[in-house]
Amino acid sequence: MKKFYVTTPIFYPNDIPHVGHAYTAIAADILARWHRLKGEDVFFLTGTDEHGKKIESAAKKQGKKPKEFVDELVKKYKDDWKKLNVDYDRFIRTTDKDHEKVVREILQKCYDKKDIYLGKYEGFYCTPCEQYYTEKDLVDGFCPVHKIKAEKLKEKSYFFKLSKYRKKLLALYKKGFILPKSREMEIINRVRGGLQDLSISRTSFDWGIKLPFDEKHIAYVWFDALTNYYSATREKGKEKFWPADLHLMGKEILWFHSAIWPAILLSAGIKPPKNVFAHGWLTIEGEKISKTTGNVINVDELVSLAGLDSARYFLMRSVPFGEDGDFSRTALVDRHNNELADKLGNLVSRVSALAEKYGIEKTQNDLMKKFKEKEIENHFENYELDKVLNEIFAFVDICNEYVQEKKPWETHDKKVLFELVEAIRKISFYLSPFIPQTSEKINKIFETNKIKKAEVLFKKI
Ligand code: ME8
Ligand code: MG
Repeated sequence: MKKFYVTTPIFYPNDIPHVGHAYTAIAADILARWHRLKGEDVFFLTGTDEHGKKIESAAKKQGKKPKEFVDELVKKYKDDWKKLNVDYDRFIRTTDKDHEKVVREILQKCYDKKDIYLGKYEGFYCTPCEQYYTEKDLVDGFCPVHKIKAEKLKEKSYFFKLSKYRKKLLALYKKGFILPKSREMEIINRVRGGLQDLSISRTSFDWGIKLPFDEKHIAYVWFDALTNYYSATREKGKEKFWPADLHLMGKEILWFHSAIWPAILLSAGIKPPKNVFAHGWLTIEGEKISKTTGNVINVDELVSLAGLDSARYFLMRSVPFGEDGDFSRTALVDRHNNELADKLGNLVSRVSALAEKYGIEKTQNDLMKKFKEKEIENHFENYELDKVLNEIFAFVDICNEYVQEKKPWETHDKKVLFELVEAIRKISFYLSPFIPQTSEKINKIFETNKIKKAEVLFKKI
């Protein structure tokens, strides 16, 4: 049986999720649902990145122990993914014992391979990024992402020989590892330009996993975090899922996934994943998502705007998958009204009402010839989720026009109604990964040949 293993980043549980995190989780959920629909054996992994200074400090601010602090936020993450119908197979936490064990095992493997050595790190660090920076990377000493002063570090540290994997990484990229294609060149150029070994341990705090060969050192949080994708497959029965088919993430962490992670795996003698895909960044009403300015949309607000399925639909429809895009509340309501209510909702409501009244009669389906199934499936395979929706909704338009043209309310033509009913069943099938609740309702209506008029699927706002 074909398998499909997809992951989201494991999110920092230093705060509750917002629409940006929801975006990745929903996209991964849609892909997982699509592959389940195709009858594949699917493993969909998400979770939380709980170690490191960032989490330790956030907990301290609230006067809590790190574990106690993250436990509450993890609960919130799980509740929110449930509200969004994000149907993962495992929620991994880097504090899970089985994960910690595998991290130590991988560290030991890289160490035995002589790819880890003791040195001294001198440079900068941004804790909100959990990332090392050279003076060159900074803007007047400030982190380019968080605009806060980067901390100067000078400490003993173990290093991972990232530089040794330059050629092997370039060979991996040649095989089309990085998606979308538009993001490949930046990584290739950076790797071509030469790699520096990576500091992978810290001694100045202790919230993390101890190095197995030197317990005074705590593993760098990214070494720990990246390993989650592999450690989850070490659970009994899950081994078959490695290598992962797809790591999905935002573009700001593509470097970690496309350079550091495969190098660690190559060092440990483990196959790298098949693909990494970096999507773009969402803004809200044209502005950067930010706690400080209050420009955030949490999951409750997201769902309250026009309902769950409309939110899931909007996120995938309004931004070409892979590119940056904007989340606007009015744009969501507009698409809910114009596309889901007026186009899809009306089609389902008219056809179900007419089919209840006049019945359907099997015939050769000419309408279905206009449905581009092959293209839709290709778009799914290429992770072009916005294009999947474009194709489906182009066909919804064709169906609505067909109703207008054939006037089944005058002709009572059971054959025309049969064509339309079949078309709607197909539409619902391909839409189900995006709008699972609504598709289930549509399926119920058209399940048998005893069709009953549908209730309103999308109330206009
Ligand atoms: O980086 N637009 O966790 P994180 C689109 N723990 N996506 C967004 C977004 C936005 N404005 N904001 C967040 C970490 N995201 C690490 C990952 S993985 C081994 C470790 C999404 O909590 C997007 O997927 O900062 C981004 O990559 C991720 O949240 C960052 O989550
Ligand atoms: Mg981040």
